[in-house]
Amino acid sequence: MRKKVIIFGAQGALGKQLDVRARSDYDVLTWHKGDIDITDEDLVKKKVAAEMPDIIINAAAYNAVDRCEQDEEEKHQAELINGAAVGFLAQAALAAGALFVHFSTDYVFSGDASEPYQENSEPAPLNVYGQSKLRGEKEIIKLSGRGLQWRLIRTARLFGPPGEGEGAKENFFLALLKLSRRQPEIKVIDREEIGSFTYTVDLAAAVFDLLQSGQGAGIYHLANSGQASWFEAAVHFFRSIGSRVAVLPIRSADYPRPARRPLFSVLANTKLPPVRDWQTALDEYISTLKE
Ligand SMILES: NC(=O)c1ccc[n+]([C@@H]2O[C@H](COP(=O)([O-])OP(=O)(O)OC[C@H]3O[C@@H](n4cnc5c(N)ncnc54)[C@H](OP(=O)(O)O)[C@@H]3O)[C@@H](O)[C@H]2O)c1
Repeated sequence: MRKKVIIFGAQGALGKQLDVRARSDYDVLTWHKGDIDITDEDLVKKKVAAEMPDIIINAAAYNAVDRCEQDEEEKHQAELINGAAVGFLAQAALAAGALFVHFSTDYVFSGDASEPYQENSEPAPLNVYGQSKLRGEKEIIKLSGRGLQWRLIRTARLFGPPGEGEGAKENFFLALLKLSRRQPEIKVIDREEIGSFTYTVDLAAAVFDLLQSGQGAGIYHLANSGQASWFEAAVHFFRSIGSRVAVLPIRSADYPRPARRPLFSVLANTKLPPVRDWQTALDEYISTLKE
């Protein structure tokens, strides 16, 4: 019998790709913010109990990294959506006997390391967003001992087809493309922010491979292979699309933002088959932009 999957945050960038990927093998219910706000504990528990899914995937999140750093109400929202509400979903999954799949971020790490962060590396977030995502991780792990089946997937720097929700974030490459239509040169942060990049199409495929692999509960790191600064990724992007815009490397200090970012937050995937390199994935994404 086909398994029933509920995807929360189904209109987000990743949520959409998870939906596309799931449909061939699962019965999928897609719930977005208009259907259900994940911070509404009672409603979450009631709706999940009425469906009794086999799997719950949470792709909903608060992602405005800088906004929640400065504004108390936004900080509260981040803590609620990325923290407490993850607990509501995990509790609902436990009660239904469903597997709970959730996403976290490289921003749970401080960035002091010189080697890629492994799944069991110690988190120490530098900003409010990272702290809120770490709270969500803890909400899940707390229920592990009570029998929750869970897969916690840390990922980073998503790109791919945009989400549809009103708060859906524009990916870095589309933002660059827009800028390049307005200005002849673009300044991009270089060596002080090195990380992993992730094509949402590849991530969605890897998530369902993981679910079918028989690998157990735990934290997983999934991103495209390799590492790059924002500048290096921008250079690759413009070269691949054949743009003549000038890309100039800058320091973090030349582009001040409210939230501190880790200097080096590359994710090491030590548990799952490697995902193809980010350059190949980005070239495939670019080919979809030309269609
Ligand atoms: N984007 C990245 O670069 C990145 C990096 C590392 C980790 N991640 C993680 O990857 C996951 C997917 O991110 P994404 O980029 O796909 O996010 P996204 O495109 O911003 O989508 C998030 C979705 O969550 C929905 N949402 C927000 N608050 C909600 C609430 N209270 N109830 C129900 N739905 C709510 C949003 O709806 P509205 O649009 O209607 O507000 C939006 O559709 C998240 O866990 C994120 O933290 C992302």
